[in-house]
Amino acid sequence: MKKIKLSPKISTFPMPAAVISIGTGEEANLITLAYVGKVCFDPPIIAVSIQPKRFSYKLIEKFGEFVINYPTIEQLRETDYIGTRSGRDINKWKELNLTKEKASVVQVPMVKEFPWNMECKVIKKVEFGSHVCYFGKVVATHSDPNYVKNETLDPDKFNFPAYIAGNYLELKKGALGTHGFSVD
Ligand SMILES: Cc1cc2nc3c(=O)[nH]c(=O)nc-3n(C[C@H](O)[C@H](O)[C@H](O)COP(=O)(O)O)c2cc1C
Repeated sequence: MKKIKLSPKISTFPMPAAVISIGTGEEANLITLAYVGKVCFDPPIIAVSIQPKRFSYKLIEKFGEFVINYPTIEQLRETDYIGTRSGRDINKWKELNLTKEKASVVQVPMVKEFPWNMECKVIKKVEFGSHVCYFGKVVATHSDPNYVKNETLDPDKFNFPAYIAGNYLELKKGALGTHGFSVD
């Protein structure tokens, strides 16, 4: 197989198109992030990376908490809107008719209309360059029961957009096998 060399800056794939809520009360804002990934199971830690020029950067610095909200494919327009407008200029909650739902541990509100929400507390941050990476300990997770089987995500109900090379994609084929199927 002949291969071509690409830029080291190319992203991993798939990435999520997740909406993060940051800040409390009237200061609560929403930002779309693709740089979101689980880095530890026990304790459960998720890393999110935010550019310091974002309005949301000041909020994560101030409050030290955030909620990861996963919108569905049907909510892609809201997801893109949140990722292209700034909380400096508009109230994204009001513009999109999204509802603040009280979280169970953190002060930051969850997005009621988005079916999967993970409450996180920042435990560490690393300044890399273009982005500051925040490591959030997941302190609670909530889901619409329609997406859950055996207390985790039901692969047959998966309905969340992926973000790959600037495009939103639907992961269509469903589960190809379960972890360990090769040794059965
Ligand atoms: C699909 C998508 C993924 C994005 N991922 C990131 C990201 O990982 N980190 C980041 O700093 N900005 C990311 N952005 C850009 C911000 O969401 C965007 O600049 C947003 O308008 C910032 O909002 P704010 O000014 O209210 O903080 C992404 C945007 C989109 C549409």
